[in-house]
This record gives sequence, C-alpha cells and structure tokens, in this order.
Amino acid sequence: MSEANKGGLEGVVVADISTSFIDGNEGILIYAGYRIEDLAENNVLFEEVCHLMWHNRLPNRQELEDLRYQIASGAHLPTSVINMMKAQPKGANPMAVLRTAVSALSLYDTDAENLTDREVAFKKAIRLTGQIATITAAWDRIRKGKEPIAPRVDLTLAQNFVWMMTGEQPDQTAADAINAYLVLLAEHGMNASTFCTRVVTATGSDMHSAVVGGIATLKGPSHGGANAEAMKMFLEIGSADNVEAWFKREVKEHGRRIMGIGHRVYKAVDPRAAILKKHAKDLAESSGNAKWYDLAAKLEEVALADDYFKERKLYPNVDYYSAIVLYTLNLDVDMFTPLFAMARIAGWTAHIIAQMGGRLIRPRANYVGPKDRKWVPIDQR
Ligand code: ACO
Repeated sequence: MSEANKGGLEGVVVADISTSFIDGNEGILIYAGYRIEDLAENNVLFEEVCHLMWHNRLPNRQELEDLRYQIASGAHLPTSVINMMKAQPKGANPMAVLRTAVSALSLYDTDAENLTDREVAFKKAIRLTGQIATITAAWDRIRKGKEPIAPRVDLTLAQNFVWMMTGEQPDQTAADAINAYLVLLAEHGMNASTFCTRVVTATGSDMHSAVVGGIATLKGPSHGGANAEAMKMFLEIGSADNVEAWFKREVKEHGRRIMGIGHRVYKAVDPRAAILKKHAKDLAESSGNAKWYDLAAKLEEVALADDYFKERKLYPNVDYYSAIVLYTLNLDVDMFTPLFAMARIAGWTAHIIAQMGGRLIRPRANYVGPKDRKWVPIDQR
C-alpha cells in the first residue's frame, strides 16, 4: 500500500451531503441540523426522520400523517414475491433473503426502470421503506412455518413491524423501542453501505439495484452484521461473572476483536450507543431480565479500562447496545441486521436520490505488479 493510501479510503471525502454530520472526535451526530439526542429525547417517529432525510426538513402534522399512510399503504408485497420467499430454504440467512426479495421487487415495480424522475424516486423510496419491514417480518414467520401477515394502513412502521411479526395488537413498549432503534440507525454519513448505494446510482442504475448493493454491504460483520456478532459473543460469554476471564483469554491472549466496539469515524463514545445503552437498561429493568445488559456493561467497563482500548480510542459503537435492545425484545439474533436495513433505507434512499444524475464514481488503483512479462505458450508454463 502506498504511503498516501492508508487503505479503506480512510479520510477520503467523496460527496457534499446535507443528511447527516458526524464529529467523530467529539462524539456528535447531527441529522440535517438536529442533534441525535434532541430527536431521541423527543421521541420523534421514524417517519419524521424519513421526511427529514428526503426533504431536509421535519414534517408538519399533516405531512407526517400523509407520509405515515403512504409508507404503510405501500408496504404490501406482490404475491409472487411472497411465494418466492416461501420457496426459499428455511435456514437461509435473513439478510440474503432480504437482498433477494428486494431484487425481486424490482421486477414488479412499474417504476423500477424510471431512472431520472425525482418525484417517482421519492415514491419508490416510500414503497421500499415499507416493503423492507414487511419482508423482514414475513421471512421470520415463513421460516417458522407461519403465514406472513399483511401490513395495516393505520399503523406506524414500528407498530406495523410488531404487528406483522406477532399478528397481535402491537405492544406499545415494543413498538416504541423499535421506533427509537429505527430513528438512531436511519442515517450515518458515508458509511460503507451508503457509499455502495451511491456507487451503483452514479452508474445510472436503478434504485432497487442500489438498495440491493446497500443490503449486501450492510450484511458484513465489520458493518451491520456486527449487531448479531455482538449478541453471539455475549451469549458465548454467558454471564457478567465470566467477563474478566473471557476478556483475558479471548481478547488479550488470542487477539480476538470485541464485536460492537471500535469505529472508523468515532474516536469518542458513539452518541447512538449512549442512547441505546439507556434503552437497553430500561428494557432490562422493565422485562425483569438484566442479565444481558449487565454482561455488556461489565465488558464495556473492562475493555475501556484496558490500555490497548484506551490508546486506540475504541468505544462501543451503535451495534453493541442495540444487540441487547433487540435481544430483550425477543428477536432472533439473525434478525438484527435486517432491522438495521429497515432503518438505514431512509438514509440510503436519500443518498440515492441526491446522487441521481451525478458523475460516475470511479477511483483509481495503484498498480504494484510487474509490467515486463512476455506471454509463453500454455504447454511451456
Ligand atoms: N476489538 C479489538 N481491537 C480492535 C477492535 C475491536 N473491536 N476494533 C479495532 N481494533 C484495533 C485494531 O486491531 C487496530 O489495532 P492496531 O492499530 O494495533 O493494528 C486498531 O484498533 C484500529 O483498527 P482498524 O481495524 O484499523 O480500524 P478500522 O477503522 O479499519 O475498523 C471497525 C473499524 C471495522 C469497526 C473495527 O473497529 C472492528 O472490527 N470492530 C468490530 C466490528 C464492529 O463492531 N463493526 C461495526 C462498526 S459500526 C457499523 O458499521 C454500524
């Protein structure tokens, strides 16, 4: 790697954006001018954040109700897509199913190949926002041998998700926790999956293709897949009493990474992690099961007291405590990353629409191979 290139495009600025601002040294996240703490404390609806992302301002009451209704009424899936999901192996990774189903949706969306009209693009963004939640809930039921449940037009996205998962009148505590999660994960600058959606869009390709790329990128354990990996790690540790021995053995002796810790941009506490930690604590107390919260808090304490973590400024990221929140809500561990996609669709589609009509993104590579080889016939090699 050349001196100028630290790898991973670290520090490279690729676009001017107005959706979010991150100060990684101070641990600040701002959505279109609003501090994330302000939005979280005032319990904004995920739909409000979608409006903020897509139109760069918060909606008034009527605009919010219109958008909530449009997302809910556009959330149904074509029967062919549901049938295709039913035919998939029950053990399939839910992110692979989501990737496949969103790709299939493009075949039935009559606007899929409209690549230029921004008003049409907003409508597709609205549909995809609802449909990703519907696919996520439907897959969880299908793989458990249950019939998927259609979305209701009278619910918010978070309520609809709980409804489509359970088929019962949505429990408001669960819906509020899901809503808070969706708000916190809706957008985050030029993260890897958002960058992918922009690269796809900059070729002139369609929104569904870009979102499929976003899902594929989010799936990796260095990105959105870390929430599930963090929970698997907590389950492996088993209890707060085992944390110190596990840390010594796995992290200090075997060099294992703690999933949900560290971030390319944050060199201070990730503000989303701080908010999710409070939610995780509240949920632990109200559910009467503080075991997993206590374990995560203990591991955080042990890691942050360690010189290796201090020197490298490694703190819990958004995935660390979101794993505890989602597990306490009784979601299967492999459903965590699709929930991340349910949130990030807001940011992805805002970036996709902003990128439409923009210049091709085409960086260059530094060639380090030989330049003077001569071709030899195959039987002489
Ligand atoms: N545990 C232990 N050490 C770590 C961790 C960790 N979780 N994360 C980074 N480090 C160390 C590295 O070993 C490296 O040490 P070195 O300088 O001695 O080589 C140093 O910190 C810097 O790490 P990089 O991998 O160079 O940092 P990068 O910015 O490339 O990676 C990443 C960031 C991928 C998030 C990393 O911290 C990681 O793997 N964390 C665990 C996975 C995770 O939680 N991912 C979710 C990120 S947030 C999101 O996408 C929503």
